[in-house]
Amino acid sequence: MSDNKAELTIDGKTVELPILTGTEGERAIDITSLRNETGLTAYDPAFGNTASCSSAITYIDGDKGILRYRGIPLEAFAAYPNFVEVTWLLIFGQLPNRAEYERFSRQLTENANLDEDMKHHFAGFPRSAPPMAILSAMISTLSCFHPQLLELDTPDQFEQAAGRLISKIRTLAAYTYRHSRGLPYIYPDPKLPYVSNFLHMMFSEPYSTYMCEPEVLNALNLVLILHADHEQNCSTSTVRMVGSSRANLFASCAAGVSALWGRLHGGANVKVIEMLESIHGGKQTAREYIEAAKDKSSGIKLMGFGHRVYKNFDPRATILRSVSEQLLNKLGVTDPLLEIARNLEDIALHDDYFLERKLYPNVDFYSGIILRAIGIPTNMFTVLFAIGRLPGWISHWHEQNSDPKMRIARPRQVYTGNPLSEYVPVEDRI
Ligand code: ACO
Repeated sequence: MSDNKAELTIDGKTVELPILTGTEGERAIDITSLRNETGLTAYDPAFGNTASCSSAITYIDGDKGILRYRGIPLEAFAAYPNFVEVTWLLIFGQLPNRAEYERFSRQLTENANLDEDMKHHFAGFPRSAPPMAILSAMISTLSCFHPQLLELDTPDQFEQAAGRLISKIRTLAAYTYRHSRGLPYIYPDPKLPYVSNFLHMMFSEPYSTYMCEPEVLNALNLVLILHADHEQNCSTSTVRMVGSSRANLFASCAAGVSALWGRLHGGANVKVIEMLESIHGGKQTAREYIEAAKDKSSGIKLMGFGHRVYKNFDPRATILRSVSEQLLNKLGVTDPLLEIARNLEDIALHDDYFLERKLYPNVDFYSGIILRAIGIPTNMFTVLFAIGRLPGWISHWHEQNSDPKMRIARPRQVYTGNPLSEYVPVEDRI
């Protein structure tokens, strides 16, 4: 084997497979010729060892706890958190200059409102409908109201579609909440920047305007930034998979919302709070919960712990832990759940089960504490995650669709069903 080739011997035949090397030195065996040359496929359920694409958007080193967007370490965004800036960075590849930033901000402001007919759709959902179901349906519905953006042939059309989606998702999210409470929809305020406008649509009333501390805006900007991309996670891979059939941007991102909903992915932030609340309510102690999470037969996991890629601290969790403490102090809020979370973390990080398996807090462990302090109800947490992750989905959809070599994604399988079987007519079946 040379440095840039791997040799594989199967049935006495040796084939050479190229080795690809990424920017940071990570290496992958290119098996695109494997089936043609050997007749065999590669078997990798849940894709734990498969690089499904090459991508220039986000870099993660899970062993060292590194996360970078377009080369910039995540920690750099913490001092002046600006979600709109990071959105541009991810989608268009570099930090926006002043003119680009102003143009994009204007686009977000001008597109915040929903078509009146679109608002009527909310009335068709029961008040108790899961917010992620509404969000996914309404993002798909957006495609009906922007038929001119179903085919994105020019950079300008793509920018318009991306801007509309980024802008409208927060209106959709806010109206989902308002509908669930039977509250009137609040029009977006063109004077407000992105995150303030979202909180205004969530919490203002026709007779009173919601005001918040700058620390709340900073914290929410940061929460959205920390969720903005995470390379080939479940929802992003879903967006790529759907987009590979040349499905439009709205349909592809709606599919991403559905993938994010699951409790092992974005839905974990809700499950973390339910876990902390059950401990707070006295159902079991933190230590008893940890013991149950270690027992495979219990079906319980320590929610907000563990990650497919991070085998060290998730850098997002480290930032959120300290932001949650700062925000609660600033707001003068005492949340018993923060204390319980710290206690659980402390017990887990001294327990061989978690240490041996390299299970550390992930992004969902502390984000809920911050969202609660801001007044976001628990059932909206995953929707907030979706607002944050949308720039990542759009970036990946765009990167894939800009690749002239793009092909429809179509994995293989190893068939394990019946061998050739005979069809038996119904009257002859026993
Ligand atoms: N609590 C208890 N045990 C765990 C946990 C946990 N949270 N996470 C993993 N393990 C155990 C597994 O049971 C397995 O044990 P074993 O080796 O004895 O069989 C071992 O640790 C390795 O874990 P895997 O299952 O291989 O991890 P995988 O990469 O498949 O799953 C996942 C990662 C889904 C995040 C998992 O850690 C988990 O379920 N965590 C809780 C849910 C959660 O917080 N999800 C959010 C992830 S971040 C995100 O999507 C934004």
